[in-house]
Amino acid sequence: MKNLVVFFCLSIFFIAFSEEEKYSKGEQLFHKYNCSSCHAPDRRVVGPSFLEISKRYGTSKKAIEKVAKLIIKPNPANWPGMAYMPPFDIPWEDAIELAKYVLIDSVKNLKKNQKKENIYDEYIDLDSQFH
Ligand code: HEC
Repeated sequence: MKNLVVFFCLSIFFIAFSEEEKYSKGEQLFHKYNCSSCHAPDRRVVGPSFLEISKRYGTSKKAIEKVAKLIIKPNPANWPGMAYMPPFDIPWEDAIELAKYVLIDSVKNLKKNQKKENIYDEYIDLDSQFH
């Protein structure tokens, strides 16, 4: 009986832990700080898409630090014609994780999903040849 309880607790712990692992730290912060209300990786919402931000600054260590600073203290002059982003009074480590997500992880996820869509398109094409 005791073993069963231990097993049960371990399973719960494992499930909770693996759920957490599915998302990078940066992606969790992206939702926690509600960046998602104004940003999406692939398209403009209120603010620019992460894809265009990543194309502008690149993915170097320097770029990550620059973007982390811009998250804490935005500079609207960088995006003329757009609304103003509010400053975020957050810890530097969080800003760095967010910048990594904006410049690298979110864009990588986009590419992965695009590949999946392409496979699906091929499948449709093959299918239409038989009808
Ligand atoms: C209320 C809407 C809003 C929210 C919330 C918001 N942003 Fe923005 N963001 C914008 C707008 C508008 C711009 C473009 C103009 C500017 O930089 O002020 C922008 C620009 C940016 C840029 C480009 C900065 C530059 O100068 O090139 C980054 C990076 C960014 N946002 C990340 C984030 C992150 C990360 C969060 C969450 C912590 C977040 N944003 C939350 C609206 C928002």
